[in-house]
Amino acid sequence: MTTEFVTVTSPDSPDAQRKLAHAGQILRDGGLVIFPTETVYGLGGDATNSAAAAAIYAAKGRPSDNPLIIHIAEPQDAARYTYTCALYDRLARAFMPGPLTVILRSRDCIPLTVRAGLDTVAVRCPSHPVAHALIAAAGVPIAAPSANLSGKPSPTCAAHVRDDMNGRVNMIIDGGEAQVGLESTIVKIEDDGSLLLLRPGGITVEDLRRVVDHVRIAPAVTAKLAEGEKVLSPGMKYRHYAPTAPVYLLNGSEEERFAYLEKASGKCALLCYNDEKEAFSKLFVEDDLYLIGARQNLREQAHRLFYVLREADKAGYDAIYAPLPPREGIGLALYNRMIRAAAYQIIDLHK
Ligand code: TXA
Ligand code: MG
Repeated sequence: MTTEFVTVTSPDSPDAQRKLAHAGQILRDGGLVIFPTETVYGLGGDATNSAAAAAIYAAKGRPSDNPLIIHIAEPQDAARYTYTCALYDRLARAFMPGPLTVILRSRDCIPLTVRAGLDTVAVRCPSHPVAHALIAAAGVPIAAPSANLSGKPSPTCAAHVRDDMNGRVNMIIDGGEAQVGLESTIVKIEDDGSLLLLRPGGITVEDLRRVVDHVRIAPAVTAKLAEGEKVLSPGMKYRHYAPTAPVYLLNGSEEERFAYLEKASGKCALLCYNDEKEAFSKLFVEDDLYLIGARQNLREQAHRLFYVLREADKAGYDAIYAPLPPREGIGLALYNRMIRAAAYQIIDLHK
């Protein structure tokens, strides 16, 4: 398949509208279009078309038991495809459009292929203006997983999308860098009216608790699924966000990490905070040091994590070392992605 590349940074110009109308037509015809969102790039197909959903799984190499998120233009459109409730309305008022996905009971118009046979479906209303304009132009909800090959870190820029997806989709829309850099927060509304966090993201647990009384965090958010444990979200069970090189998380101060890395062997990459560059330059050449942001700025680190992991992966390392993030705010999302990228290998350096 030949992939058409277009750039749309703002949806309002006549040129952008022409490109988005064309992309909308591709989607209505059952084709695949990769588009920017505020979290990561999405690999989109018509969410009401079972064949388009099957094509999404094939393009990603994704197991078909791992359901897709449907993207809607307006929060109230959820009622067309799902059974919404008062709690959904409250979440929508507080956080939509934005990086929040809500799992609701599905209506029959969403094919079983999209929701991997479940009776629920994940719904998200993105705030990125190009994503919004594309969904409106398509006139159908867009089913879209992250636009990476299955198991790889999600792409946060068009160059990384191209690395994975050139020749696998009809169109790629370059809309610049994704702002959040990690996938949306996923919550499930339980039958008793409480909220269960399945995947942390740009909307933090602290944000959710300001709006909803009872927010529980699924154990798999911060730990490996126990043998035989019930999988609440199929995505939890797959190796994820992982570069080819093994990733090791170092739990320790700058000094403790330095002492540990002095003894490391092989071709290694180090992810470190900006202010640590000088110290670690004594152990690593500049090309092997990847700055993830200011130590206190967890938003910046979230924004850069997948970009940096993919860049490090291209250089071909024996090992990639990174600091273990704190779990507050968006740090919980960083922690959740990094323990998966590291296949739960945390090296505890605290004495
Ligand atoms: O930010 C995002 O959410 C991005 C952009 C493109 O919107 N999308 C994304 O999709 O990250 P994906 O497919 O990579 O991750 C969706 C996750 C998967 O782990 C899947 O198992 C879970 O959502 N999921 C989808 N439907 C579900 C359902 N009905 N019940 C439980 N988990 C569900
Ligand atoms: Mg994904």
